[in-house]
Amino acid sequence: MGEDHVFLRACRRESTEYTPVWLMRQAGRYMEEYRDIRRKVGFLDLCKSPDLAAEVTLLPVRKLGVDAAIIFGDILLPLEGMGIGLEFAEGGKPLIRNPIKGKRDIEQLRPIEPEEHVPFLLKAIEIVRRELEARIPLIGFSGAPFTLASYLIEGGHSRDYGKTKRFMLESPPLWRLLMEKLTEVTIRYLKAQVQGGAQVLQLFDSWVGCLSPWDYEAYVLPHSRRVIHEVGMQVPLIHFSVGTGGFLHLIKEAGGDVIGIDWRTDLGETWERLGYNVGIQGNLDPSVLLASRAVIEAHVRKILQSAGNRPGHIFNLGHGVLPQTPVENAIFLVETVHRLSKR
Ligand code: CP3
Repeated sequence: MGEDHVFLRACRRESTEYTPVWLMRQAGRYMEEYRDIRRKVGFLDLCKSPDLAAEVTLLPVRKLGVDAAIIFGDILLPLEGMGIGLEFAEGGKPLIRNPIKGKRDIEQLRPIEPEEHVPFLLKAIEIVRRELEARIPLIGFSGAPFTLASYLIEGGHSRDYGKTKRFMLESPPLWRLLMEKLTEVTIRYLKAQVQGGAQVLQLFDSWVGCLSPWDYEAYVLPHSRRVIHEVGMQVPLIHFSVGTGGFLHLIKEAGGDVIGIDWRTDLGETWERLGYNVGIQGNLDPSVLLASRAVIEAHVRKILQSAGNRPGHIFNLGHGVLPQTPVENAIFLVETVHRLSKR
């Protein structure tokens, strides 16, 4: 069965015949088929329709030939079950209707029951697993507690995370209460995905790179570690963050079988620094996919050389596919990684 798939073997740092590759946001607006579906269905409704979400999950599998599927959804999906009003405005930007302002708001947050609050996600996982017939593994995912907290406090995306940091630094006991609640929700959300059939997990701490190493260590690391400790025993877990080149050793300390990095650090140097007892995922700059094939190929070659054919490298972008990416370039990327990494 799928246990032997190159992607799972790479997660376990076993040798593979080529370097496996998938792309964050591999199902999305850069694909015409996705845009066609989105003209008819809103983003949240799409996430809540298991047949459509499964269809969208499988689009890049068929079109790009990637080595893993990632279930179509969003890191913000578990928030509604906690009592948070969630919207995706025109252009897909998330908006929280009732952001967290103080103690009462935090006390009112409820833990989620995945079967009750995200049944659509579990159903989509079941459909995708059936359709994939063990050809490639399915990744489940969640936001990490800090990244979720930042949405809850800022009410949406932020440039400087001023409100979040002020809250964290000025009210440590309340911050801890909020993080503990989000940790519990994240654990339940990820465990349910594994029970439903997800074979690998990715924890997205997308915005934690706004913190200093000291504040990461004091206010975030213990909570991320608890999530990973509770769910990471069952399946391999990829711990991803952006802009954390200065404290990746702490990200590793929090846990994960594979550390996902962005393009601002050299992959080979970073891996050496972290040690080879952990896998590494990354790290092509997504903008490279806007350039010519020659440029893409040269960048792929650099990253593969930097990884040095060591077991445990999963090729990916350093962050999500940009919506303006030509789909042919994403297809070319996957083909090029496979061709150039063949041992
Ligand atoms: O990788 C995949 O193909 C799976 C699908 C996926 C989506 N969101 C679909 C989506 C995944 C893994 C996510 C995770 C996610 N969501 C993260 C972490 C990853 C990252 O990029 O750092 C974050 C921070 C979110 C929150 C979120 N959802 C934002 C900030 C946005 C708008 C951003 C944008 O791209 O404009 C969304 C909306 C969203 N999530 C879209 C998609 C395809 C666009 C919605 C649309 O169709 O209009």
